[in-house]
Amino acid sequence: QVNFNQKMDYVFKIVLIGDSAVGKSQLLARFSRNKFSLDSKATIGVEFQTKTFVIDYKTIKAQSWDTAGQNEAQWAMLVYDITKRQSFDHIAKWLEELREHADSNIVIMLVGNKSDLGTLRAVSSKDAKKFAQKENLFSMETSALESTNVESAFFSVRTEIY
Ligand code: GTP
Ligand code: MG
Repeated sequence: QVNFNQKMDYVFKIVLIGDSAVGKSQLLARFSRNKFSLDSKATIGVEFQTKTFVIDYKTIKAQSWDTAGQNEAQWAMLVYDITKRQSFDHIAKWLEELREHADSNIVIMLVGNKSDLGTLRAVSSKDAKKFAQKENLFSMETSALESTNVESAFFSVRTEIY
């Protein structure tokens, strides 16, 4: 296990999980580099980004993984596309897999991405909230494109991790 930076007060691992094309890579890009691309290619293998920030005088390093690395993650984002019903229906499967492999203390956030495409919505916020409540997850809708709630989704970590 590599120790990436000893000066950090906290280092935590976030994993993003969900169907292909829901926007995991772009959520990562928006959060770590404030970048977004409309012609994002499907990720082959593992994607990894880090971002360091300071909250309450503490230096925090977030290591975010696209899909892999769930074994050691403290925080997971289960991502679906609000315009693709199937991507939401698959969340239960992703959750099952996550609970099987991840640390039992992992904190899980249900993320409905592409909230900018409201006119094409196929999953109501109500359905998402209901599912999240039943499964004891945090939930949020985001737009990597418009930068809506992306920081909030990642920063919610801080209240849970320390
Ligand atoms: P895989 O790597 O195949 O697992 O997909 P992914 O989940 O990483 O999806 P990716 O981030 O590559 O995004 C897929 C497509 O959705 C791309 O065309 C993105 O530009 C687009 N996209 C991602 N986030 C948003 C968003 O918030 N709004 C809109 N309108 N499009 C988005
Ligand atoms: Mg990707």
